[in-house]
Amino acid sequence: MLVNATNMLLKARDGHYGVAQFNINNLEWTKSVLLQCEEMKSPVILGVSEGAGKYMCGFKTVAAMVKAMDESLGITVPVALHLDHGTYEGAKACIEAGFTSIMFDGSHYSIEENIAKTKELVELAHDKGLSIEAEVGSIGGVEDGVVGAGEIADPEECAKITDLGIDFLAAGIGNIHGVYPENWKGLDFEALERIHQATHNIPLVLHGGTGIPDEMIHKAITLGVSKININTECQLVFAAATRAYIEAGKDQQGKGFDPRKLLAPGAEAIRAKCAEKIQLFGSENKA
Ligand code: 13P
Repeated sequence: MLVNATNMLLKARDGHYGVAQFNINNLEWTKSVLLQCEEMKSPVILGVSEGAGKYMCGFKTVAAMVKAMDESLGITVPVALHLDHGTYEGAKACIEAGFTSIMFDGSHYSIEENIAKTKELVELAHDKGLSIEAEVGSIGGVEDGVVGAGEIADPEECAKITDLGIDFLAAGIGNIHGVYPENWKGLDFEALERIHQATHNIPLVLHGGTGIPDEMIHKAITLGVSKININTECQLVFAAATRAYIEAGKDQQGKGFDPRKLLAPGAEAIRAKCAEKIQLFGSENKA
């Protein structure tokens, strides 16, 4: 059964480990993530960006696919279906579509507007039993064509958003989406500590998980981070494995590629990546 992400993240916070949010883009990715999390008895959050939602024929299609797959594969670990970086309209659409969790990213609005919209969505989400993540201080890099500057969130603003009753908070601490540039200064742990202090121990979310050194991930977990988002790393291994398969020329003697075989190496690569992250974040056997 799909669940919201509140309990799994409170448990992670209290148990000092992180739960992965793996973003999904198609059926194969979803299946790989679910099977690996089940094998390792790890709770998981499936992240769906608005772009990925559109690609997969809309949020209703995604919710139906994930629910059916969770059931058909006999998944027993807690799985949350979560909108990643939702707009105000997207968040409302996911509440209706059967998601179990949403993120409203109002970080590009003024703090007043972010507060007003987050407040309204907290009520709508909680009414239907969904968990809700909000964001303060935009996360850098590019996601779905939206470029964020990589701000450091203001602890007072984080406190104001937290007090609206959200379930977990994404706060910018120098993290960015995608691959980190060579001159990246690293996570700002002083900022994380200030945010953690100001937000009454709410589970914090670390976006841009790709390429953050292991020691920084572990340190972030000690400072209140309970959810870590991974997208680009899965994309990279999926692409590399698919490319290798094609370059090896494993087609059917000029008759083209069997699509199931073509996508199998990528799906396997995603499983291996999930296993690596579950181990790193410490969520194995925490279901
Ligand atoms: P990466 O693409 O850097 O792994 O970040 C994923 C993310 O934060 C999704 O919200």
